[in-house]
Amino acid sequence: MNRARTIAVDGPAGSGKSTIGKLIADTYGYTFLDTGALYRAITLAAIRHHVCPGDAEALAELARETRVCIEPPDQGEKVWYHVRLDGEDVTSQIRSPEVDRHVSEVSSHPSVRAVLLERQREIARSGPSVLVGRDIGTVVLPDADLKLFLTATVEERARRRYRDMARAGKDVSFEWVLEDVERRDEADRNKGEYSLRVAEDAVVVDTTGRTPEQIVAELRPWIVGE
Ligand code: DC
Repeated sequence: MNRARTIAVDGPAGSGKSTIGKLIADTYGYTFLDTGALYRAITLAAIRHHVCPGDAEALAELARETRVCIEPPDQGEKVWYHVRLDGEDVTSQIRSPEVDRHVSEVSSHPSVRAVLLERQREIARSGPSVLVGRDIGTVVLPDADLKLFLTATVEERARRRYRDMARAGKDVSFEWVLEDVERRDEADRNKGEYSLRVAEDAVVVDTTGRTPEQIVAELRPWIVGE
């Protein structure tokens, strides 16, 4: 078995996709692409241009016209990547509550997804890469060399999100976060052909109660092809 060139990481919100995808990328020398950041950047552009999150055509047009770049950070920087929207660094703005509120609807339109699909494939073609999202192994890279599908209990996922939000100084209750995670799961399940699905040939990993390091160590044979 050869070393995996493209790695698809899918799973619900809070399952550990980004943490594990990033750790794999850093450990084994892959480009890391968090595809949710692309949907978030287009959502931010829509808010700024007053495009309604339900207007599929206007959003697709906006996605075609908007230049979104994901760039690696400089050494020593805390962020995992920089997101640029037509040149402007919007790395923190794409995590705003307003973007959170609308991104699920914006990403539900097939016309928007079609524009971003090509961009994701271009990045995967450019070199060894780990792509993290919801439909990477099923739609974006159906021929990925390694497909991971991560899961964790809803309580564990809410706990992780609550911890991250508390660290970022956000004043929310655990109950609110739990409800929010459940609401997102529901939205992700209802995206028709783009609903969150486990690819037939995916390795399913339950991350509940385990550290990212333990999980990545366990996945080593699949990554390096031993
Ligand atoms: O992973 P995230 O929370 O940053 O994702 C933001 C939104 O984008 C979320 O509603 C799921 C959606 N998304 C998607 O539909 N397809 C992807 N490949 C990645 C994210």
